[in-house]
Amino acid sequence: MTTRPRQPAPGTPAPGKLALPELGEMKRRGDRIVMITAYDAPSARIADEAGVDLILVGDSAAMVVLGHDSTVPATVDELLMLTRAANRGARRPLVIADLPFGSYQVSNEQALETAIRFVKDAAADAVKLEGAMLSRVDALTAAGIPVMGHLGLTPQTATMLGGFKAQGRSAAKAVRLYEDALALQAAGCFALVLEAVPSPVAARITEALDIPTIGIGAGAGCDGQVLVWHDLLGLYPGRAPRFVKQYAELAPVIEEAVARYAEDVRSGAFPEEQHTYAMSEDELALFDEQLAEAHLA
Ligand code: KIV
Repeated sequence: MTTRPRQPAPGTPAPGKLALPELGEMKRRGDRIVMITAYDAPSARIADEAGVDLILVGDSAAMVVLGHDSTVPATVDELLMLTRAANRGARRPLVIADLPFGSYQVSNEQALETAIRFVKDAAADAVKLEGAMLSRVDALTAAGIPVMGHLGLTPQTATMLGGFKAQGRSAAKAVRLYEDALALQAAGCFALVLEAVPSPVAARITEALDIPTIGIGAGAGCDGQVLVWHDLLGLYPGRAPRFVKQYAELAPVIEEAVARYAEDVRSGAFPEEQHTYAMSEDELALFDEQLAEAHLA
């Protein structure tokens, strides 16, 4: 196992960490930005080693890790714990923590208190919040906390949007999205997730913005893409949304491995000699002697 440098104090970029302004440079150069969700150290380490740029500790954890039916039940404490874990595995990628539902909607003060916890207690490099919450973005960025926006399908308020479906499909709604995107940029967001938005709409928004857009179900015209870890690897049961590309089908592979383990335990085939620890004959004899003495005493 390799040893990794300790995380520095919050607010201090770790050695080797991607610099936040580099994302804007990537957009200008036309280099696509790669983001993936991760919720623990081993997956963040794999993402880092695979060369991703951004790790999102998404509130999708409520569904894919914690077993809820939506992202709404995610709590600050749960996401803090997952962000700390992901941070321990990530060296180069920026780690962005989702602010869970109810942790920033009440007031700018509440949003600040929550975001400060993510930066101080979990060393998050940035936070993400959903919707055109301009005064929240303004308050957080004024405090020095980088904010990623999220427009289109915003799962925390999906009920208000008519469910988990594409957004901005009428001209009027597309104009609203476009204006919200510009307003979030003006409020200080460093990047913007566009989820389930028609690709021509996302492409026009991307062209209009100086900050990068990260698409999920928003087409190839975005500056980068994000996928949920469990969707990409085939670890989440049920039908994946249309915008998911599954790069592996790991659930059956894992299930088969666990079933073989169970079979080996039940048959006695595991553990074998190589999986156990030896003891010298002398020590063993002494042990038996001492056991016998203790037993007789
Ligand atoms: O929570 C999450 O994983 C997200 C991504 C889908 C963008 O917000």
